[in-house]
Amino acid sequence: MPDLDRRKFLKLAASLGAALAVGCTPIRESSSGWRERRDLYPQGVASGDPDENSVLLWTRRPYADGRKQATLLVEVAEDPAFTRVVATTNTRILGGSDWTSRVLVAGLKPASEYWYRFVDADGNGSRIGRTLTAPGRDDPRPARFAFVSCQDICEGTMNAWRRMIFEDERAAPEDRLGFVLHLGDFIYEVVQYPDQVKDGHRYNRIVTFPVKFPTGGKAVAKNRFRVPQSLDDYRELYHAYLQDPDLQDARARFPFVAMWDNHEFSWQGWQSIQEFGEGLVWAQTLKVAANQAWFEFQPARVPPQANLEAFEAPHVVDAPVKDFDDNGLGQEPNNLAAIDSLIGYRSLRWGRHIDLILTDQHSFRGPDPSNRDELKPLFEGVSFPFYPEALAMQIDSGRDFADGHPPAKLVFGAKSIANYRAKEPAQSMLGAKQKAWFLERLRTADATWKIWGNSLGTPDWRVDPQNMPAKMGKWTDGYAVLPNGDWGSIYHERGEIFDAVRDAGVTGFAIVSGDRHSFWAGYAAKALPPAKFEPVGLTFVGGSISSLGMQEASEQGSKDDPFRPLFMADRDGAPPEPTMNLLLNHGVRSALEYAHSGDLAKARAASNPDVAPHLDFVDMGGHGYATVRVDAEKMTTDFVCIPPPILRSDREDGGPLRYRVRFETPLWRAGEKPRMQQTVLEGDVGLSA
Ligand SMILES: [Fe+2]
Repeated sequence: MPDLDRRKFLKLAASLGAALAVGCTPIRESSSGWRERRDLYPQGVASGDPDENSVLLWTRRPYADGRKQATLLVEVAEDPAFTRVVATTNTRILGGSDWTSRVLVAGLKPASEYWYRFVDADGNGSRIGRTLTAPGRDDPRPARFAFVSCQDICEGTMNAWRRMIFEDERAAPEDRLGFVLHLGDFIYEVVQYPDQVKDGHRYNRIVTFPVKFPTGGKAVAKNRFRVPQSLDDYRELYHAYLQDPDLQDARARFPFVAMWDNHEFSWQGWQSIQEFGEGLVWAQTLKVAANQAWFEFQPARVPPQANLEAFEAPHVVDAPVKDFDDNGLGQEPNNLAAIDSLIGYRSLRWGRHIDLILTDQHSFRGPDPSNRDELKPLFEGVSFPFYPEALAMQIDSGRDFADGHPPAKLVFGAKSIANYRAKEPAQSMLGAKQKAWFLERLRTADATWKIWGNSLGTPDWRVDPQNMPAKMGKWTDGYAVLPNGDWGSIYHERGEIFDAVRDAGVTGFAIVSGDRHSFWAGYAAKALPPAKFEPVGLTFVGGSISSLGMQEASEQGSKDDPFRPLFMADRDGAPPEPTMNLLLNHGVRSALEYAHSGDLAKARAASNPDVAPHLDFVDMGGHGYATVRVDAEKMTTDFVCIPPPILRSDREDGGPLRYRVRFETPLWRAGEKPRMQQTVLEGDVGLSA
């Protein structure tokens, strides 16, 4: 919660009565008569946003007998048998909130493990959940958490959650995870119906149909899939997702800290606007519905929603958004009201070593200037799968390019157009207000590690087609970038953030992110050679829990594509191998050498050291999760990678690992460059290192 301290929050929550349970003495055995009836709580239980004395608890207990409200008892205990109950309260649940419940439990001890459960008036109980409180802000012990993203249940399975639970249950208490940071795409609002799927597959994935929108949904993108068109449609997504047994078990075991990415509202959505390739769709009412469903199903401390019992939805109508301020924020009142109905950016403290700062990459994001019709002539007849880096920077930065010296023309190969961006402001991902809050939090954070929880990846997607052989095409534009819609294209604002880190002498700055459906490890730097390479921190992207990634899509691509060797090596009936990892990490010559010879040592020897000094590791086919351990001296990040989760594993460990790779970085001093060391702990990382 931005700048809303705990005492204020408790006061606020206390004024709501039923929503607050306070740790009580004497501690006694449960007398609730709880009998577990998981069928009556079909989405299980969850906890979220712990601090050192309190945590939010969650469940859903639907009634279908015509009543409009009911009461649940909440019990919190120090033991899973509930012989030492420390807090109880009655809480009201409302049909109008889809029978979901959020209860703040306060007065707890720091760095402690608790168990909780809900009981209805007839003694029917939820499953038992486990949660943890944060260590006190001066607690010097090492801290651990996991970060995850992107879990599509319609075309993948949740084996990664099973693996995380399996390992955590067997870890020594001091090595267990403190919380799970979920960086979004918790749900995918784009859902395929049976008539939209050919042969039961998308690429190599088996498509299933667990989501049935109450309205039937709306067919979009030339009938490729359906999207929600009401609040109940969004709620149905959470109902279906939370009935996945592995995800539900994870929510019952770990406190979650959640931030949405795009799919919690809309695939190509920004602010309250949707895009499906056929112009802008004004969707203020759906943005409010998406926010309401998120609030109802994710226990989180998110203003301005102060009433934990029910989301207070502003009345909005869908109206054209035409006027944008210099930070890209659409000024139309319904747009502003919809966005402001839920503020997700917030920070969380975890002991002496973690200040976690979460930002929202979609609600305030300005219009994307690379979507403009003016640009089209530059790309006519172009077959390259990438475009010039200089052009990407000029489009992004507008009038701020080169410290206020944008070129008169935008150039690609032999073509040029007038620079339609020359008088326009730079793109903003965060918007002015959030950015000011974020930079202030960064400058004043005093934990050892300042961790930016960011749904979108920051590393550049850079390639060096100037090193392609002439037969692949005549490239005259220097470095290039692969198409992307994340921080890899937001050069100006990313630079502003990294400059602020440098100028304030912030050390221990590390970014953890998702969305790319791939694992990346490297350095946070605003520019790459021949410009000055000046890393100010670390940057990690975690592979998807289940969603399919670029490698799986490319595997199924045409083998006749002249650029294919840059992305895939096909040899002698062997499965295709992702030279795209070498392309991004080492450049064109490495990728082509491997595609030609299959010799990884020779491929690495052909590396262009200037293409990607910001990267240590890229796996475009990686799925799973990442863990972080920090202490006073070091940050240790592990990537736990599983094979593509096409079928649910029936093993208790969630199935085999592909690899586990570790990145260790000693804390650096202001002005020093961070240096990470990579160790493969098990398995084979293939072409990723
Ligand atoms: Fe995703």
